[in-house]
Amino acid sequence: MRAVGFRVNGGVEVLEELDLPEPVPTAGQVTVRVAFAGVNFAEVQHRRGEFGAPDGPGGVDVPGLEVAGTVAALGAGVSGLEVGEPVAAYLPDFGGYAEVVTADPRFVRSLRTGAGEADPAAAAGLSCVYPTAFGVLKDAGRLREGEDVLVHSAAGGVGSAAVQLARELGAGRVYGTVGSAEKIPYATGLGYDQVFPREDFAEHLADVTDGRGVDLVLDPVGGPVREQSLSVLAPFGRVVAYGDLGRHEQWTASVWDLWKGNRTIAGFNIGDLARRAPERIGDHLAEALRLLAAGRVRSGVTQTLPLAEAAKAHEFLETGTGRGKFLLSLG
Ligand SMILES: NC(=O)c1ccc[n+]([C@@H]2O[C@H](COP(=O)([O-])OP(=O)(O)OC[C@H]3O[C@@H](n4cnc5c(N)ncnc54)[C@H](OP(=O)(O)O)[C@@H]3O)[C@@H](O)[C@H]2O)c1
Repeated sequence: MRAVGFRVNGGVEVLEELDLPEPVPTAGQVTVRVAFAGVNFAEVQHRRGEFGAPDGPGGVDVPGLEVAGTVAALGAGVSGLEVGEPVAAYLPDFGGYAEVVTADPRFVRSLRTGAGEADPAAAAGLSCVYPTAFGVLKDAGRLREGEDVLVHSAAGGVGSAAVQLARELGAGRVYGTVGSAEKIPYATGLGYDQVFPREDFAEHLADVTDGRGVDLVLDPVGGPVREQSLSVLAPFGRVVAYGDLGRHEQWTASVWDLWKGNRTIAGFNIGDLARRAPERIGDHLAEALRLLAAGRVRSGVTQTLPLAEAAKAHEFLETGTGRGKFLLSLG
């Protein structure tokens, strides 16, 4: 089968087209014939070596955290899915940039929902991103109705999902930040009340909220942005850390400042959740597919590239020049 992967860590040039044996599911697994694979920043980190050197079969790693397609085969003991059924899958162990991928049924959900059938191209970019956005807003962020939210990296994959889910969850005002001013019109169109350049977001936010700040900040950037985000919290506000886009040094918050200022820092990590509370990811994915099928949320896909052009998609994410969600087509 066709796949794209890497034998050594490095820049986009290490991604290569591969011809690999098609996987066969063992007991408790399913395989998915991939129609579309979503592209995530974590796959850039995987390629760069931030999760370690390639250790897949034959020394090759295939990235890819989320796909949509059809069930290719069922391993022994798997129930609730049928061969040929249209599905979306979150892949904690990667592998999605391939024609067929092995998946854990706890993270595979049917595109046939109570609200109709979700479109596979839209669903492919959702299986990692939406459970993450749900987790950051609801589980770690404890968002309550009417609360105001700030989303850093507002125009990206998780950002595009977060603004829509924040609305679904009854948020009050939802603000965003982006790395360059050219992205502001696009990001605003995703449904934010206002979008600011990240470099001076704290001043803008203080202006528009009359100094009150927001109740929840979603922060995948880190470093000075994380530190400044604490300063824009209203009383009992939370900053949820869930990424390291800026590749900053580890920053340590002062507990003294937290308790003296009625502030909270929380963390979210989908990989840890997959190991320790897998049912939560399955539930969030099912809910996201239902909202998609019902037309309540949009996929945010801005570009679909052929599998062979995976490097181009990585470049968009890594250089910060991309908007929305990128897909790879396996057709
Ligand atoms: N913890 C978890 O479980 C979890 C799960 C999924 C994703 N994530 C994290 O969520 C973040 C977004 O992921 P995504 O896949 O949706 O990516 P994305 O937001 O679609 O794409 C990356 C965006 O990050 C920004 N960026 C790139 N390099 C940057 C840098 N050096 N400094 C600051 N910003 C930079 C750019 O947007 P700007 O215009 O805003 O700069 C770029 O468009 C990533 O940090 C990812 O690791 C975490």
